[in-house]
Amino acid sequence: MISSVQTPSQKNNSRPFWYEIHRCPNCLALNARLSERLARLPEHSALSKNHYIGGRYENIYIALADLPEMRVVIDAAITRAAEILACEADRLRMGWWLNAMRPGDLTHAHTHDDNDELLSGAYYIDIPKNSGSLVLMDGEKSIEIETCMGMFVFFPPYVLHKVTRNLSDYSRLSIGFNVGLSATGK
Ligand SMILES: [Fe+2]
Repeated sequence: MISSVQTPSQKNNSRPFWYEIHRCPNCLALNARLSERLARLPEHSALSKNHYIGGRYENIYIALADLPEMRVVIDAAITRAAEILACEADRLRMGWWLNAMRPGDLTHAHTHDDNDELLSGAYYIDIPKNSGSLVLMDGEKSIEIETCMGMFVFFPPYVLHKVTRNLSDYSRLSIGFNVGLSATGK
């Protein structure tokens, strides 16, 4: 049984605390399809929404059937998460949601440790220039990450994080996620 996130790179890590950046291989075309489908998705297709802060829902839950391209992202995330957690991929499941930041929006500081999650992260679909950076915070330590399309950032669920204001004229699209153990696999 895994009791906590293993951080294999911690020993020789010059960063203030553990996180990992991972690139989704060959995901540019995938991101274009994800963006296109999201633009056509009717408002009512959201399964649920939460974190209503600053005039918007920061988390929008969408059925995989409405966004089938997410399967590639889920598989890539779980494959890498299994390596980070040193366990078999078929023991893991992933919950995910869309974060769509319009011009002027930001994402307020939050953690993902509400449940028995092992690893958290984000995947970046469409990141216009100056549309916001990811800030990870652990106590007094913080790090700002300039994200880009096709990037994953993994971090422990307890790490407080936020996204700075979208100063571009375009929407910023990312996926937030949690990875945990599943008896039935992903
Ligand atoms: Fe988050």
